[in-house]
Amino acid sequence: MEEDYVFKVVVIGDSGVGKTQLLGRFTRGDFCLDSKSTIGIEFQTRAADIAGRRVKAQIWDTAGQERYRAVTSAYYRGALGAMLVYDVTRRDSFAHAARWVAELRAHADKSIVVALVGNKADLAAVPGRREVEADEAEAFAEEQGLFFYEASALSGDNVEAAFLGLLQEIH
Ligand code: GTP
Repeated sequence: MEEDYVFKVVVIGDSGVGKTQLLGRFTRGDFCLDSKSTIGIEFQTRAADIAGRRVKAQIWDTAGQERYRAVTSAYYRGALGAMLVYDVTRRDSFAHAARWVAELRAHADKSIVVALVGNKADLAAVPGRREVEADEAEAFAEEQGLFFYEASALSGDNVEAAFLGLLQEIH
């Protein structure tokens, strides 16, 4: 079936938070155990029915590592949605979310829809591993006007909800 719309979505966040794995889970339904750090930019697509229309989500993934990030404006150009990912077991990755929001505000379209996603929720069940409480992240999301989800690329929990929720809000 032909798609009615193509929605560009960018995935951002610190290196190692699980951006590539979230994308793989959503577009292919898998999790790759020996994933390598992303170098440069890649995108993957998945079709979805959103509010009765066929939408092709074109989801872009780039390296979280500073040294690979010379492409900011081109990366954000035309993006209707963004998924800002942090790792619930790494406080620093959440602390940097404000910096990622600032980058979005500087380079992306003003009307971009943003979802904050706390990934690796599966590890939060392991005693002592959680470093970011959901309440705190939710408060930050609310203050910044972002949608909020905790998810796990490993278990697949909430990955569909986060991506489809974002696509729905774009629509
Ligand atoms: P860069 O490409 O360097 O920006 O990293 P990234 O954000 O794309 O991270 P990536 O998807 O490569 O995942 C980093 C590491 O975290 C890998 O070892 C993954 O296997 C692991 N990982 C990703 N998602 C999850 C998750 O939901 N749960 C657990 N337990 N591990 C995860």
